[in-house]
Amino acid sequence: MAHPERSSLPKHVAIIMDGNGRWAQSHGMTRTAGHRKGMEVVREIVRAASDFGVGYLTLFAFSSENWRRPETEVRDLLGLLKLFIRRDLSELHRDNVRIRVIGERNNLRSDLLPLLIEAEETTRNNTGLTLVIAFNYGSRDEMARAMVSIARDVADGRLRCEDITPGLIDSRLDTAGIPDPDLIIRTSGEERLSNFLLWQAAYSELMFVNDLWPDFNRAMFCAALEKFAMRERRFGGLSAAQAAVGS
Ligand code: FPP
Repeated sequence: MAHPERSSLPKHVAIIMDGNGRWAQSHGMTRTAGHRKGMEVVREIVRAASDFGVGYLTLFAFSSENWRRPETEVRDLLGLLKLFIRRDLSELHRDNVRIRVIGERNNLRSDLLPLLIEAEETTRNNTGLTLVIAFNYGSRDEMARAMVSIARDVADGRLRCEDITPGLIDSRLDTAGIPDPDLIIRTSGEERLSNFLLWQAAYSELMFVNDLWPDFNRAMFCAALEKFAMRERRFGGLSAAQAAVGS
């Protein structure tokens, strides 16, 4: 089985798993069946990321805007997430995977929040892949919550305005302590970020693949990592070749 070169692996890969609905429709199935197939792919990609030695894998499981979907679809998506944690937690723990959940937690259903907390607590000290599940997540909402927490500290005299730096803002986001994504993959041919990790994506490489999420697999993930290794990242500076010409 193909294995990407370890030395040039992205440390953090984030994925917008798009296309479950279109996949279901093209197979004459319900949208829920598409999400269920999508969950199988989640298992495959988590295993692959862990095997390949990726440090962090963030999956956009449910956005703060997804509540606008029909009630039955929302119920089924929440049910799938619960099922994933209930069924897979022990195996993920055994595989040394650490789970983090990002997104707004206030007002989450009482049957879901304890499960998310349990997943984080159980796996807190694991040292393998960190699986970041973005649930009830929206980047603007995350940034607004961070700004409120900073504004409170300024108003109460715990912080001065001059203390507000990119680093301080980082530390108030849900992703505090998690490195910025090196690579963001979106499936299904759509080419946008849809309110996902907007602050953290400042220097991320973006990769848009045409396959629908339920058709995505380990080999395609490996190919994306190999393609990433070929890209040159300059973070606003110059490449070695450009620097040599200029000097
Ligand atoms: C986008 O497809 C996908 C989602 C909104 C949900 C993603 C959820 C899963 C893959 C399953 C559960 C996840 C975990 C982490 C257990 P879409 O419905 O917007 O597809 P469409 O654009 O074709 O309609």
